[in-house]
Amino acid sequence: KLNEALLRMAASFAVSDAKMREIIDRFHQSMRDGLNGDEAGMPMIPSFIDRRPTGNEQGKFLSLDLGGTNLRVCQVTLLGKSDFHMVQQKFTIPAEAKERTLFDWIAQCVSIFVEEHDVEPNPGEYSINCGFTFSFPINQTGLAEGNLIMWNKGFLVPNSVGRDVVRLTQDAFLRKHLRVRIVAILNDTVGALMTSCYSNPDSQLGIIFGTGTNACYWERLSNIGKWAGPKEGEMVINTEWGAFDNAIEVLPYTMHDNKLNRKSPNHGLQVFEKMISGMYLGEVARNALLYLVDQRLLFDGRSSPIFNKSYAFDTAYMSEIVSDDSPDLTEVRKVFEQTLEIPSPTLLDCKVAKAVCDMIGTRAMRLSAASMAAVLLWRPEMLKGTVTVGIDGSMYQFYPSFDKALYDNCRPFLGDDFVDNKLKLRLAKDGSGVGAAIIAAVASKHLQ
Ligand code: BG6
Ligand code: GLC
Repeated sequence: KLNEALLRMAASFAVSDAKMREIIDRFHQSMRDGLNGDEAGMPMIPSFIDRRPTGNEQGKFLSLDLGGTNLRVCQVTLLGKSDFHMVQQKFTIPAEAKERTLFDWIAQCVSIFVEEHDVEPNPGEYSINCGFTFSFPINQTGLAEGNLIMWNKGFLVPNSVGRDVVRLTQDAFLRKHLRVRIVAILNDTVGALMTSCYSNPDSQLGIIFGTGTNACYWERLSNIGKWAGPKEGEMVINTEWGAFDNAIEVLPYTMHDNKLNRKSPNHGLQVFEKMISGMYLGEVARNALLYLVDQRLLFDGRSSPIFNKSYAFDTAYMSEIVSDDSPDLTEVRKVFEQTLEIPSPTLLDCKVAKAVCDMIGTRAMRLSAASMAAVLLWRPEMLKGTVTVGIDGSMYQFYPSFDKALYDNCRPFLGDDFVDNKLKLRLAKDGSGVGAAIIAAVASKHLQ
């Protein structure tokens, strides 16, 4: 009975090459629609960034990087020649800020940083110029303005959807008498791409595989039907691919995904993100494991008060579990017995739990590879030369073999020669801080 249940589960989480092809085709359809103004599939947001960094940008800037877990406040000195110097302070975002006081909390962190590091405006300027990396979808109306489309990744700050987040942040700075002026706002994927471009001008994509997931890429302006401005040249498009296939027409969606989705504050939204990213994978795995517990096929039918709590099974535990190759699965047992207080898991229990985590992790990596391949294939002319992809986020950095799986799972669609010789996946670690400074440098030039 256990074997049967596991086989059924494995089949429901499997993503065949044919399924990946179908996903890639649907991705292209959603990208096309989004670029032409039908954003039901994917928003495809123009970033107002229409010039590639040269690596020669210079100057001193403050940058804010609001990710899924941390806010980083950085002082970045761009030295030109692809070189920079950065001083930074990381603040973990407290639940209260995520749910209520975000903008005042950001201002508080900035004021601590500015004081501790004696940050002053550049000579002859009244304010400190600042680039802001913001890891949520905004409808940009300029380089330094954009209205919040929605929150996700567990954030829900009241009275902010539909409003200009630069204004909201700037107002919070005013309340704290901070002389900081936001000169550019950008998505975190754009930050990763800009940083990557600063040292590798052939960078085409910026991707985040972290608490959430998303990507941006360089698009020809002539291809952006909804762009009302000039049609010559190119612009970075923030795809917001976490919103891909919210209607669940092609994704290999299971009852365990559905359980998560139904209970989530953004029910029905960011469905793709919920199958891939660090905030959600552990919860999908918890649902699948409890499904086996409820059939008395796992842990002798017993759970624990801790394991019964939503989101108690952090994706970091999955990483530990899938990387345990010891014969008696010591780490797997530790997670379940000591951390999650499941009474006396057997070796078979540990094997089953590991197999379930593997299924869900593997599905995430195959879907991630499909989406990356889809964006690369969207612009086939890109595939002729070397393509660098700047990637950041906790999944990419910490989930076992994520990087290798991206390369391997792309092969059938991009070809061995391209994957082996032309595709360069590069960690753009903490990239958004530098990326924001680069865009601030470009923006300040325009303002002078
Ligand atoms: C950080 C980037 O390193 O990674 C942020 O600088 C980005 O801009 C973040 O949002 C994403 O990772 P995570 O795991 O915090 O969502
Ligand atoms: C979510 C946000 C997106 C961001 C991504 C990664 O998907 O909507 O803007 O880039 O998380 O942080």
